[in-house]
Amino acid sequence: MRIILLGAPGAGKGTHCKRIAERYGVAHMSSGDILRRERAEGTELGKKAQGYMDAGALVPDDLIVEMMSQAIRQAPPAGYVLDGFPRTVNQAQVLSKSLAAQDGGIDMVLDLRVDDGVVVERITGRRSCPECGGVYHVKNMPPKVDGICDKDGTPLIQRPDDTEEVVRNRLGTYYRQTQPVVDYYKEQQPVYEIDANGDPGAVAAVIFEKLDPLAGK
Ligand code: AP5
Repeated sequence: MRIILLGAPGAGKGTHCKRIAERYGVAHMSSGDILRRERAEGTELGKKAQGYMDAGALVPDDLIVEMMSQAIRQAPPAGYVLDGFPRTVNQAQVLSKSLAAQDGGIDMVLDLRVDDGVVVERITGRRSCPECGGVYHVKNMPPKVDGICDKDGTPLIQRPDDTEEVVRNRLGTYYRQTQPVVDYYKEQQPVYEIDANGDPGAVAAVIFEKLDPLAGK
C-alpha cells in the first residue's frame, strides 16, 4: 500500500499516520519527523533545515526530495504512508516520476480538512515525545501522567515551531504552497476529503473505512 495523507498543520496527519501504520503494517514516513531527527543529531541537513522550520517556511525542495527518496527506497514490502510529503507541486511531480519509473503509483490520497481556528488550538496545545515521536494534546489527548509520554516515560516537549505566531506562518505557507498539491493529485486520481474537525476516533474510523478495502480487510 502506498498512501499519502495531505492536510494543513494540525490536521492530524501524524496522529492518523501512526494509526494507519499500526493497522496495516506499513511504514510511517514523516518528513517533519525525519527533519527533527536530523536537527537533533546536528547533521548538515538538520542545520540547513533549522531556520526554515523555525520560521514556518518550507525547507528547499532539493533537500527534501533527496531525503524522502532515500527513506522511500528503504520502505518495507508492505508499503508506506507519507506524512508531510509531498508539500509542493514540484515535490509531487518528482515523486510521480520516480514511482512511474518503478511501474508504480500512489494507491490512495486522503486530504484531512480542518478549520483554521481548530489548527491554532490543536498546535499550541500539542506536546510531543522527543524519544518515540508520540503525539499528545493537553486537552484533547492528554497523557495518563501530565507531561510524561505514556509509552516510554520521557518528559514531553513543545515543538519550537508550535507557537501561535509560527503556526499562522505555517498556515500561510500551507495555503500558498501545499494546497496546489491537492489539485495536482485531483488531476491524476481521486482525492478523498475527510472532515478532520471531529473526535480523533471518529476521524480514524472514516479513514479506515476508505483504506480497509485496499488492504483486503
Ligand atoms: P511537519 O512536522 O510535517 O508539520 P505540519 O505539516 O505543520 O504538521 P504537524 O506535525 O504540525 O501537524 P499534524 O497534521 O501531523 O497534526 P498532529 O497529528 O500532530 O513539518 C514541520 C516543518 O518541517 C515544516 O513547517 C517545514 O519547515 C518542514 N517540512 C516538513 N516536510 C516538508 C516538505 N515536504 N517540504 C518542505 N519542508 C518540509 O495533531 C496536532 C495536535 O492536534 C496534536 O496535539 C494532536 O493530539 C491533536 N489532534 C489531532 N487530531 C485531533 C482530533 N481529531 N481532535 C482533537 N485533537 C486532535
